[in-house]
Amino acid sequence: MRSHYCGDLRASESGQEVEIYGWVHRRRDHGGVIFLDVRDRTGVLQVVFDPDEEESFAIADSVRNEYVLMAKGKVRARPEGTVNPDMPTGEVEVLGKELRILNAAKTPPFQLDEYSEAGEDIRLRYRYMDLRRPEMQQRMQARAHITSAVRSYLEGQGFWDIETPTLSRATPEGARDYLVPSRTHPGEFFALPQSPQVYKQLLMMSGMDKYYQIARCYRDEDLRADRQPEFTQIDIEASFITQSDIMTLTEGMLRSVFSSVIQVDLPEFPVLSWLDAMRDYGSDRPDLRNPLRLVDVADLFANVEFKVFKGPANDPQGRVVALRAPGAATLSRKMIDGYTAFVARYGAKGLAYIKVNDLANGIEGLQSPILKFIPEDVVSAVLKRIGAETGDLVFFGADSAKVVNDAMGALRGELGSDLGVLDGDYRPCWVVDWPMFSQDRDGSFSAEHHPFTRPTCSPAEVLADPASAQAAAYDVVLNGYELGGGSLRIHDNEMQKAVFDVLRMDEADQSKFSFLLDALQYGCPPHGGIALGMDRLVMLMTETQSIRDVIAFPKTQSAACVMMAAPGSVEDQQLKDLHIRLRGPAKVVAAEAGDGAAE
Ligand code: AMO
Ligand code: AMP
Repeated sequence: MRSHYCGDLRASESGQEVEIYGWVHRRRDHGGVIFLDVRDRTGVLQVVFDPDEEESFAIADSVRNEYVLMAKGKVRARPEGTVNPDMPTGEVEVLGKELRILNAAKTPPFQLDEYSEAGEDIRLRYRYMDLRRPEMQQRMQARAHITSAVRSYLEGQGFWDIETPTLSRATPEGARDYLVPSRTHPGEFFALPQSPQVYKQLLMMSGMDKYYQIARCYRDEDLRADRQPEFTQIDIEASFITQSDIMTLTEGMLRSVFSSVIQVDLPEFPVLSWLDAMRDYGSDRPDLRNPLRLVDVADLFANVEFKVFKGPANDPQGRVVALRAPGAATLSRKMIDGYTAFVARYGAKGLAYIKVNDLANGIEGLQSPILKFIPEDVVSAVLKRIGAETGDLVFFGADSAKVVNDAMGALRGELGSDLGVLDGDYRPCWVVDWPMFSQDRDGSFSAEHHPFTRPTCSPAEVLADPASAQAAAYDVVLNGYELGGGSLRIHDNEMQKAVFDVLRMDEADQSKFSFLLDALQYGCPPHGGIALGMDRLVMLMTETQSIRDVIAFPKTQSAACVMMAAPGSVEDQQLKDLHIRLRGPAKVVAAEAGDGAAE
């Protein structure tokens, strides 16, 4: 039986006989003495075999990387000069007496200690090996601790963990559904839930009062570093509460999790209105570590000749902003061209700039391709408004408000990290006072959050002027990531119908939610909640770059599992049982849909 984990041995165990189990991390032959670094989930331990112990020495000689072993021996302090301060177990080694191979291993497809050279595709194909790396094991452990801290906080606050179905019907959160064909109901499909939204509201109507769930959600949408087709939410709902109750609870939970798991005291959570966030950061999920700000200057350019600025400055849908990059006047033309190409990705048609070489020297002290188009007094008014100083570079964006917000908001983020001005490790905030709907080009409306969010006005006002309706919705944002979102919910039938009407849901669409419209009439308490992305939380707390790094078996960019080759084709008989006929061979159908997922 195991006496110790490898990573736990210290000088205090010197002299003890131990029995350890693990994998060969590395094997070194030092002229007659063999060193095996043996690894388990706690760390790596050096075990030494010398030729005196003939049998175990011969076995040690035969093992290779990733063999699975049992070793027995005596702990001793490492001889003078061989202590390894980089290893937690670096002061000791085990003098091996007995060695047993529990399983051999083929040569690994990539070196576990030089994984960075292995591409993600190969790491995901052999994920069980990738997960053996100490770094990945620490992330999985952190995730387990975070989950446990979340549970204990919420349970301490009186929340009940209640499971909700994953074979369900469409839950409108704005993405495509993953569908599951029904064998017993020919031609009909379940949808996997995009979130437990409707169920958790029904639980409030059922009198459960305080619910939470670490819930798996499924969304068929474009993937990014912070998005997976299946992901985990910390899903919360409560009755008879206010927006500030939910915000206080969420803050309390995050504070408790950060301090207990990574010993970080989170700073204050400033509350920004959605309008202010868009104005100052061009984004509804601002990274507050970044001190750079967008400053509106449309009024100053309203009468200039330069059409690029004048047009948007006089267009109610337009926006003209300046973004001051402190000390960036030394950026080369090539780097500025790089930023111009960067903003072009967000639809910007150019990136005007002014270099402030010497503020005291008036127009002579400035350098810019646009100075010739703009009167001197306008230039100095702009520089004054943004507080420009000698050595600064000022960028300008002029276009529709959407393009300016997307492009200049992204540029703000890029400059913030390039200039090294990010301040602090974790800077959370709330974004509140959301619009209820966003309007598409064709004039139609979609719910900014989801259709069950409570507008702050009356049903008649929602119907009369949807564009002006505000929602009792709130997002919690951390370091530029939307960590979570929630709202107070509609709890009366008339308001729910009004919102469905604005969304132009016809009778057939509304009938899909008839159970909810019914339930609202049988004594529904006022209620609200929030859901936080667990994967994003763990990613931020472990300082990784992608949620794939904190999910044991994530999907690739094309929403597939390369290890299991899922999704995959199925037997004809299975399709028959499910009453499904394919339009062509599986791969052809997938290719037609422009999706590599079936490969
Ligand atoms: P929302 O759609 O904002 O709200 O989702 C809540 C949080 O879930 C995380 N998230 C994701 N994480 C990884 N991959 C994805 N594809 C993905 N999509 C969302 C984000 C996000 O903030 N039912 C509502 C919540 C509510 O109103 O209570 C909802 O799902 O961190
Ligand atoms: P142009 O007259 O198009 O050559 O543009 C003159 C300067 O304005 C160049 O530096 C362009 O990069 C910049 N510019 C062009 N369009 C925009 C825009 N929509 N927003 C900001 N700068 C722009």
